[in-house]
Amino acid sequence: MSAPLHPPIPFGASSDAKTEAYERVALSIDALLEDENDWVAAMSTVVCELHHAFGYFHWTGFYRTIAPELLAVGPYQGGHGCLRIPFAKGVCGAAARTRETQLVPDVEAFPGHIACSSSTRSEIVVPLVADDRVLAVLDVDSDDPAAFDETDRRHLEALCQKLAARYG
Ligand code: SME
Repeated sequence: MSAPLHPPIPFGASSDAKTEAYERVALSIDALLEDENDWVAAMSTVVCELHHAFGYFHWTGFYRTIAPELLAVGPYQGGHGCLRIPFAKGVCGAAARTRETQLVPDVEAFPGHIACSSSTRSEIVVPLVADDRVLAVLDVDSDDPAAFDETDRRHLEALCQKLAARYG
């Protein structure tokens, strides 16, 4: 079997290597979603593209707002995810409540973190806001410590802004 064209970006990769991968993934998502208006199809495609591009993404998925102050799990890749998360709980809830990205280098230091998997060490959660409501949050968990940095934040926020504008 031949080596994959773009092997997953490993934990601890340089900012340049990460940026290059995010740019490649963004182009791929743009092309795949060009004619796709269905939000579930879009979310599924996005998590698949992200999850396989980065070796330190161990759980990659969306939680959607399904009722006031309540998130339910959406398309994801990785192990079993918690089904429902109130805005009052966890890192996902904090992102939905504050409408700000939560970059958590050490989940054990985050009060109220919901441990869906005991192997998770760090996490980033980015809200998708459209028409002044939280459509969903994108949650990425890593088994590596402090796996996410400002490069991840910048690119994931740009992606989520684009998705919220189109599907919100
Ligand atoms: N860690 C998250 C819960 C979601 S899962 O880990 C998939 C949180 O505290 O919001």
